[in-house]
Amino acid sequence: MDHFNLRNGELYAEDVPMARIAAEVGTPVYIYSRATFERHAAAFRDGLKDCPRVHLAYAIKANPNLAVLRLMANAGYGADVVSGGELERALAAGMPAKDIVFSGVGKTRQELAQGLDRGIGQFNLELEAEGVALSEIAAARGQRAPCVLRVNPDVDAGTHAKISTGKAENKFGVAIADAPAIYARLAALPGLDLRGVASHIGSQLLSVAPMEATYHRIGQLVADLRAAGHAVTRVDLGGGLGVAYRAEDRPVWPDEYGAMVARVTRDWDVELMFEPGRVIAGNAGVLLTKVIWVKPSPANPWVIVDAAMNDLARPALYDAWHDFVAVKPSGERFVANIAGPVCESGDTFAKARDIDLVKEGDLAIFRTAGAYGATMASTYNSRALVPEVMVDGDRYAVVAERISPKTIMDEERVPEWL
Ligand code: LLP
Repeated sequence: MDHFNLRNGELYAEDVPMARIAAEVGTPVYIYSRATFERHAAAFRDGLKDCPRVHLAYAIKANPNLAVLRLMANAGYGADVVSGGELERALAAGMPAKDIVFSGVGKTRQELAQGLDRGIGQFNLELEAEGVALSEIAAARGQRAPCVLRVNPDVDAGTHAKISTGKAENKFGVAIADAPAIYARLAALPGLDLRGVASHIGSQLLSVAPMEATYHRIGQLVADLRAAGHAVTRVDLGGGLGVAYRAEDRPVWPDEYGAMVARVTRDWDVELMFEPGRVIAGNAGVLLTKVIWVKPSPANPWVIVDAAMNDLARPALYDAWHDFVAVKPSGERFVANIAGPVCESGDTFAKARDIDLVKEGDLAIFRTAGAYGATMASTYNSRALVPEVMVDGDRYAVVAERISPKTIMDEERVPEWL
């Protein structure tokens, strides 16, 4: 459920008419609903009510806007970060360092040192050499780095290939069969405080089965590690819960997920950690856009909007579906293609889709754009970096300014020898 609804024939974000935001901030613009974010943060936590010890680390890659991070910190979430830049964001938003988990398959030595400097709560190691490096850096400072070992369970998440991470052929984690030996070697290093294991098999999962299969494998691994004499106190189960992009999508609800987790992990006696991203942010944001032209074509007309693949990359990258809804729907519909102004055929949001009838100058939204939307934006075609707005009841704030092509250009240099 979200707070982007029709009222008297026009779309509102909570109690603010979207047309007002378009008039005052311009388009394209991302609009977030505070109430929706808070609702999702609470729903995910409530879903896990039968798990005794839980740590929630919001995967900030989904939506790292500082206002969003502050909101999540207020809701009691820490952060899952994957770069030095994300780490600084989480801290800047007020997340305590001890609540930050550092994931990522390519953390540099400098980023490992940065994590130690900041005193983060956990490093998720992706390979043995990373653990050896972290131990060296930590031991040289007289520290022991809190960490877990990410394992690759070789489970098919049943999602888009580009966002699957838990198959043996993917770059993430160490093969689960190799994990006991690697764990034993890392546990013996002086600069590591190895506390357990982590896993994350992919994103936009629409079934509990692959997660459950993964957790059973992890449970067996934990038992094996304990039998070998290791004190396993933490297991990080990652993120990955999908959301409904289309009416027919049947996401796994947080309480269904939580019930499965409680059942499978009942005897583990560990602190369970989670890294939800999309399930918190996805439906908490929309991308508001304006129709520039409606262009006739032999097949279906092209609705050319002022948002493009540089603002919302998901359709171009993953053939993703985002519902398109007019801000003031007339009730009439037509079948059209929807595309942005970027000079690539890939800059197409929808083909032959039955949508609200729109004409030049009309406003419309792409729904479910709160996760992996603004954060993946670029300035391709020398377009501005898309701004972001957060709504709270009948007020709103611009939480990220539109960054103009001029500002970007000001950072470029032409050497004097040209
Ligand atoms: N933890 C780890 C280690 C991850 O790699 C990810 C996502 C998450 C947690 C959060 O997953 P979520 O709960 O959001 O599914 N840009 C793509 C999604 C990439 C996901 C990358 N990793 C998209 O737009 O679909």
